[in-house]
Amino acid sequence: MIEVCGRCIGLWMREAKLMKIMIGCDHGGFELKEVLKKYLADKGHEVEDAGAYTPDRVDYPDYAKKVGEAVAAGKAEQGILICGTGLGMSIAANKIHGIRAAVCGDCYSAEKAREHNNANILCLGARVLGTGLAEQIVDAYLGASFLGSYHTQRVQKIMDLEK
Ligand code: RB5
Repeated sequence: MIEVCGRCIGLWMREAKLMKIMIGCDHGGFELKEVLKKYLADKGHEVEDAGAYTPDRVDYPDYAKKVGEAVAAGKAEQGILICGTGLGMSIAANKIHGIRAAVCGDCYSAEKAREHNNANILCLGARVLGTGLAEQIVDAYLGASFLGSYHTQRVQKIMDLEK
């Protein structure tokens, strides 16, 4: 018997507006990046692949920099960064001015990363997640929007830490 939680069904059904997404990975995230690139393009998103373009060993900060700078400059509305755990990518991406990168391993956190934290990069751990869960997390993240209101001043206080 397959059990699916009601919350995940709700999240699946919330379709994201189509947007430009820049996606990047290291060798640990290469296979999942290829899967998600097609998954997002099939849904109609414009997906720009920042590399890595082969599964050869590379350094994740190079790709966090590429995607983070593009998102911070408004060249893509959202970024997705994938490494083995998602941790290295998020630590590196959060060094870039204007970036709020969130590592998510579940749909609830992915939704809240957008609603509460106004995240602009989703980081995923390819060695942590199965492909199906990774796709659901992406749907939950892209299908949610920043709620504003009292979250605005909190996010502003995060951005003030960059000064
Ligand atoms: C690469 O082996 C691995 O360290 C990287 O993909 C990532 O998990 C770092 O945070």
